[in-house]
Amino acid sequence: MKTLITNGHIVTAVDSYVADVLIDGPVIAMIGKDLGSITGPVDRTIDAAGKLVIPGGIDPHTHMDLPFGGTSSSDDFETGTRAAAFGGTTTIIDFAVQSHGQELHQALDAWFAKAEGKAVTDYGFHLIVTDLPDSRLPGLKSMIDQGVSSFKLFMAYPGVFLVDDGTIFKAMTAAGENGGLVCMHAENGVVIDVLVKRAIAAGKTAPKYHALTRPARAEAEGVHRAIAIAEMAHAPVYIVHLSCSDALKEVQNARDLGLPAYAETCPQYLFLDYSYYEQEGFEGAKYVMTPPLRDRANQDQLWKGLRMNDLQVISTDHCPFCFKEQKELGRDDFTKIPNGGPGVEHRMSLVFDGGVAQRRIGLNRFVELTSTAAAKIFGLFPRKGTIAAGSDADIVIFDPDKEQTISASTHHMRVDYSAYEGRKVKGVSEIVLSRGNVIVENGKFFGKAGAGKFLKRGAALAGG
Ligand code: URP
Ligand code: ZN
Ligand code: ZN
Repeated sequence: MKTLITNGHIVTAVDSYVADVLIDGPVIAMIGKDLGSITGPVDRTIDAAGKLVIPGGIDPHTHMDLPFGGTSSSDDFETGTRAAAFGGTTTIIDFAVQSHGQELHQALDAWFAKAEGKAVTDYGFHLIVTDLPDSRLPGLKSMIDQGVSSFKLFMAYPGVFLVDDGTIFKAMTAAGENGGLVCMHAENGVVIDVLVKRAIAAGKTAPKYHALTRPARAEAEGVHRAIAIAEMAHAPVYIVHLSCSDALKEVQNARDLGLPAYAETCPQYLFLDYSYYEQEGFEGAKYVMTPPLRDRANQDQLWKGLRMNDLQVISTDHCPFCFKEQKELGRDDFTKIPNGGPGVEHRMSLVFDGGVAQRRIGLNRFVELTSTAAAKIFGLFPRKGTIAAGSDADIVIFDPDKEQTISASTHHMRVDYSAYEGRKVKGVSEIVLSRGNVIVENGKFFGKAGAGKFLKRGAALAGG
């Protein structure tokens, strides 16, 4: 199958020019002017005049089919990657979870079983490590050799996910020595636990107390500690879902000192804020996620961090739970509201609208934040994350002028609400190709469950 995309405005993290792209099978074969005159017959020509031609989005932080709080996130690998594709994201990196007592490879096998035959786009895995005695440390190298080169560790959720500082130090050392990267959920979960218990004892059970018991200082302290431990371990660290200015300052300070500290933020921290918890009744439960939404004043600082490269990636932390049946579990007690929200479908459009259309970032930076940087950090570059000869033909024909209104009534995520209900955004993923196949075109799906392949990732941070 040969496809020729003509006259599109090709944008990568560094380039911006009008040209044609020839796709041969699953990869990009050639880029140039007027390729039609030299390619011979092709199966399909896509006229991309007036449109952006960008690398498929990479969302390195999703939770499909994640067991949490007595239920499971409502998107599985089929519905979740399908929704992602509608929004121009053609690769996800999801989190496999090691339960207590489980061997690392067993955890990974369980997530292979969830994704195989279901994912419509390519996917990789990080591994959440919860139980790491010294005897399991060599297992980290074995995971890296199998293409799982990043690990998430938690400083929060005592008794469930939290690991102690010694374990973090050992994991960072072992990962760092073998081309791996530790992704840190940085919040002081021990202090938070005390605040939560005090709130419940005082009868403070409404959703907003989820936010009021998880202060920004708890996140900043976690980020500071994570970076200090990484420095002692001579290893890099990647802070996930960074939500606030206090935490960002810790990353900035570290990077100013030349330390290999990296961080992502998510659209919810750029576009939503604490006031959403103050909505009528139980509505605030829709925004119960960790870290929580912060005061609006943080948003300008996060955008500044994105511009200045103190934040390198925008992921979603997509972890949807239906409002009616799942968030409901915590109607009388915010600690029982499953943590997380939907987001995988609208990341590209939200960031384009709030970033490029609002002139906060340029086109190259948009591509870098939504695709290229994640590919480089997580060992997928240059197979993913760019438009170049030899790269996978994961391509989005993006209409920068078209508007859409985000709504649960039209979205494709398997969840009964949208965190952005009614928001108008400029920028729509019109045609989406995954390894050379058109899987979305003008709002219709042409992909197939199981077509997505597991991505055996290389060493972290190897892509420059
Ligand atoms: O609330 C969130 N973020 N749920 C997903 C789990 C995590 O910590 O990323
Ligand atoms: Zn987390
Ligand atoms: Zn997460």
